[in-house]
Formats: sequence, structure tokens, C-alpha cells
Amino acid sequence: MDNNKPTRLEVAAPGPLTVKGSFTLIGADGREIRIDEKVKADGIHLCICGRSKHKPFCDGSHKQG
Ligand code: FES
Repeated sequence: MDNNKPTRLEVAAPGPLTVKGSFTLIGADGREIRIDEKVKADGIHLCICGRSKHKPFCDGSHKQG
């Protein structure tokens, strides 16, 4: 993975927040949530609507009215 490539954040309304590139994700408990570098390169989707049952990840619940 190219660690010099800038991290990209993409916000969709009402969600999710997509993060791509090189980053470290820290959970609410202060621990790192380990994510495969290939998955990071493709992008992860974080919940910004508050409805996901699998926070911090988006589970598609933002699509429900
Ligand atoms: S942004 Fe998708 S469930 Fe919250």
C-alpha cells in the first residue's frame, strides 16, 4: 500500500462517511480496530447517522426513513 497517498474522506447525506487510504481507526473503548490494508484501500464506511447496530461501521440503517 502506498502510505504516501493522502487519506480520502467522503461524506454522504445522511451517511455514511467513507474513509480510504492509510489511517488508524480507534474504537470508543480506545482500542485500535484492526482493518486489512486492502480493505482500507477500497474504503470503509463509518456511521454518521447514529442508527447503525454495528458502530462505528455503517450497516445501511441510514436508508430507513
Ligand atoms: S450512516 Fe449508515 S447506518 Fe448510519
